[in-house]
Amino acid sequence: MSRLDDAWAYVDDRLDLERDRGFFGKAFPAEDSFLLGEVALFCFVVLALTGVFLGMFFEPSTSKVTYEGSVAQFQGQDMPEAFVSVLNITYDVPYGMFIRRLHHWAAHLFVASIGLHMLRVFFTGAYRNPREPNWVVGTGLAVLAMGAAYTGYALPFDEFASTATGIGYNLSNSIPVVGGLVGKVVFGGEFPSSATIPRLYFLHVLVIPVLITGLIVVHMAILLRQKHTERARDGNVETERGVVDADDDDTIVGLPAFPNQAAVSAVVFFLTLATLSLLAGFLPVHNVAAYGPNNPAGTPELIMPDWFLMWVYGFLKILPQWMAFTVPGTGVHVSTEFVGGIVLPTAVIGAVALWPFVDRHEEPTHFTADPLDRPWQTAVGVAAVVFVMVASIAGMNNLLADALGTSTGVVNPVLLVGIVVAPVVGGLLTYRVLRDRAGSARGSEVVADE
Ligand code: HEM
Repeated sequence: MSRLDDAWAYVDDRLDLERDRGFFGKAFPAEDSFLLGEVALFCFVVLALTGVFLGMFFEPSTSKVTYEGSVAQFQGQDMPEAFVSVLNITYDVPYGMFIRRLHHWAAHLFVASIGLHMLRVFFTGAYRNPREPNWVVGTGLAVLAMGAAYTGYALPFDEFASTATGIGYNLSNSIPVVGGLVGKVVFGGEFPSSATIPRLYFLHVLVIPVLITGLIVVHMAILLRQKHTERARDGNVETERGVVDADDDDTIVGLPAFPNQAAVSAVVFFLTLATLSLLAGFLPVHNVAAYGPNNPAGTPELIMPDWFLMWVYGFLKILPQWMAFTVPGTGVHVSTEFVGGIVLPTAVIGAVALWPFVDRHEEPTHFTADPLDRPWQTAVGVAAVVFVMVASIAGMNNLLADALGTSTGVVNPVLLVGIVVAPVVGGLLTYRVLRDRAGSARGSEVVADE
């Protein structure tokens, strides 16, 4: 008997785990790409733990206080308390710089792993009947994750972050009719007001994390209820609980949740933590000392959102002004900010959420599909990825123009055409290649039958 078996026998003896085999014996397919969801989950745990540490030293206030910390250039200056507290965390609180960087990198990995997890679910068709509800819950989680990162970005109240936050305020203000109210609720009124940082802090440390936790619980409950998907089998599989037919997709074959999958998950957790620690140890983050405190009179030369919001920034940068209009007879003005920053992103997120109802399946499917066998769905996925990539490049139009030795006036029309044409071309090419591939596979079957 191995040590693991001994440990199981001991715990089972005390807690009668076998009785709850339904959960502890739940099968987890041994697929590496299925671990991306777990990476997201563990990043969230790291974010919560490091966030608690940072919360003990951060001051959500823009009142001026005199800086007395160890950064020489700011000694004796009166600066916003939020900025001063982040300087203190970074340079004076023991382990503060490391924990702040850990929090930062965990936020990036959180969003990145969610994005990759979503792509895995999309391209393997794991959103199909009966998993549509979990796809919708997942879309909500993706939006909340970006919201958490955005509200956190603003908190140091340095010149760089507060300028980007000001753009968010202008966007919410651009919403026809209710814009002023939204600006008041989310940003505490005219940006930057003394209420902005407390309001964003409240959203960042309470409202959004509670919503994320709630949705993760729902996401996991649905997952446990519906079981995982599994890759189609090559033949019948012999398991400890009997032989499972190759085409029996009601029965999932995999590692039992406890102890095997629990051990795999522990490894994933520590690998995630190790990766984040390495990043935090070697790569600096958002250098508040270099940016300086918010300066209402100036605008920094380079303003940029985080990479995962760059696509929204891209819409804002390349949409031509003529798209703005006033609704006849109402006096309601629809600005390009509103179209690019609110309407288009909402349409993209709405399209993502509704996708499983476009690619509808009447019958439940528990096997994942090979993306190469789904020409039109994979083509749509490729088109969507290309669309987001071109939009993100558009968000960096000034850097692109500099690199090409030209002006944004020249690159913007090209990007505007590119954002429409490149996804269509990418999608059609993918469809063509996959359809031909399916055709030639059918052809070789015919030959084999002769
Ligand atoms: C905080 C964010 C998220 C966390 C922590 C999370 C976590 C997980 C975990 C641990 C699993 C099981 C393992 C796996 O398949 O990877 C899973 C499955 C699933 N997730 Fe997520 N997820 C998140 C966001 C999303 C998003 C953005 C989507 C899609 C829009 C999504 C859709 C799904 C679906 C449909 C399944 C079932 C897939 C299957 O059974 O193969 N999730 N999620």
